[in-house]
Amino acid sequence: MPQSSFYAQCFYRYLFVIIEIKLMNFTLRQLSLFEAVARHQSFTRAAQELHLTQPAVSIQIKLLEESVGLPLFEKTGRKISLTRAGKEMFRTSLEFLDRLEQLEQKFVELRGGLQGNLNISVISAAKYFAPLLLAAFLRLYPGVNVRMQVTNREILIEGLKENRDDLIIMGLVPDGLAVQATPFLENLLVLAAPPGHPLAHERSIPVAHLAGEKWVLREEGSGTRMAMEQFFAQHHLPLHVSMELGSSEAVKHGVMAGLGLSVMSAHNIALELAEGYLVALNVEGFPLRRHWYAVMLEGRRLNPVAHTFLDFLREQGAQVVAQGVIGRSSPTRGKGRKDTKPPTNLPKN
Ligand code: PGA
Repeated sequence: MPQSSFYAQCFYRYLFVIIEIKLMNFTLRQLSLFEAVARHQSFTRAAQELHLTQPAVSIQIKLLEESVGLPLFEKTGRKISLTRAGKEMFRTSLEFLDRLEQLEQKFVELRGGLQGNLNISVISAAKYFAPLLLAAFLRLYPGVNVRMQVTNREILIEGLKENRDDLIIMGLVPDGLAVQATPFLENLLVLAAPPGHPLAHERSIPVAHLAGEKWVLREEGSGTRMAMEQFFAQHHLPLHVSMELGSSEAVKHGVMAGLGLSVMSAHNIALELAEGYLVALNVEGFPLRRHWYAVMLEGRRLNPVAHTFLDFLREQGAQVVAQGVIGRSSPTRGKGRKDTKPPTNLPKN
């Protein structure tokens, strides 16, 4: 089928649906509000996501119920759930809003470019490579406005629960939350030491040789710290803590200053490793292989910009970060390579 007739068909199909909706006397806006309330099973959380007040959402849902002529939600104590009519409405509204979004995305492409806002939050340890990804993405889609917040794990998870961002970039995906997590980049955790350390030039160092070392730790709750503690527990290695420091940047400087060794993402210390200010000790079992993920609450519908960004991360994220320097990266709109090389001279075990 020629492309123009495909879009003409889409257009008339949606025009028809919109006319039908008008006949039923409710608006697309009410349908989106309904979808958010039904997904969260909460007026308050839907209002937060949509940046509205809770009464504004309640009024619109009430008007919607009047148009339909049936209740869509029922209350049991403080909880709300969908009635039978509500469940029907939810199913159809999801299909309808998804198709409408696809159509919107096609129109955007036909108009010659992606436009809109992208709101992301990244865990502080991801701040070293997130700008590279955004720069490469914006070179492909200059019409996009980005807001990126760099924050700690606690605030990130709070934001995730409240659906504040389009996407979140983090290493350790939280337990006990229904999320969709897309791995897009390998996260190698290395054992960082100052270059003058006695083990700096050793190869295949047995874990037991670390028993006498002092360690610089990240703050409680850090994903990097959890991975480090897990490794120590698995190997029954004593963890003599010399100092606890509240950020990857502080830990990096602590290790360079000789406070002790630490386990860090290679992405956090790529420049220091390359310049020789730090070395990655060649200890058996290292580097620890983890991933960076793009995370959102399960069932969240992404807008066209966020959708495109997620595809970009999946298809080109690893390549862009591996190339490292904006002038050398050449992302393409098509499928990218998924392989990546370690960001710097890591020891090979
Ligand atoms: P963090 O980040 O150590 O700063 O928490 C890494 C992660 O999310 O695992």
